[in-house]
Amino acid sequence: MKVLKIVVMSAVFLGLPVQADWRNEGSPEEQLANLVKLVPGTSHWMFEIGERYKNLYWAAKLDRWEFAQYQVEEIEKLITVVQLARPKRAETAEEFIDTGLPVIAEGVASKNWDAFKPAFEKLRQACITCHGKNDHAFISLPAEPATAGSPSLNLPRR
Ligand code: HEC
Repeated sequence: MKVLKIVVMSAVFLGLPVQADWRNEGSPEEQLANLVKLVPGTSHWMFEIGERYKNLYWAAKLDRWEFAQYQVEEIEKLITVVQLARPKRAETAEEFIDTGLPVIAEGVASKNWDAFKPAFEKLRQACITCHGKNDHAFISLPAEPATAGSPSLNLPRR
């Protein structure tokens, strides 16, 4: 460990590059390979989808139907990003697009909380079904999210 430190420090002292910056100096192949490794995975995109799921619920509850529709559209875009980023999830994502999204789109279009609520439950089931099919059944989702994070909704944090 100590030896490594000395080697690294002398490299810095001598002005030698400790590690070449692949972004400027790498070959196109190396640059491409590194960029592919940097493509965010499912967990990253799901984090955002989770936020939009909460925003969707609260937007409907607060009668913010246009904002609710926007959340559904963004969720759809994010699911297609998952398909591209992680091809092994593409098939189950397609099932979700076919079964989960039309129901919630209708629920939002109704601009009616009583029609929205069962549609939101169906969306939740479709999300959870995909988690199960992808060996992540333990990732549950609340039927009634306690709060939502978008500043546009201005809800208290919990
Ligand atoms: C294509 C299948 C699929 C669909 C559809 C899907 N998920 Fe996921 N989700 C996953 C997988 C797989 C993970 C685990 C990610 C990992 O470990 O790479 C995950 C993880 C999550 C997480 C955990 C993120 C974290 O770390 O806190 C949340 C929240 C989540 N999903 C919400 C949702 C919501 C909400 C929906 C529906 C609107 C949804 N998911 C639809 C596959 C899916």
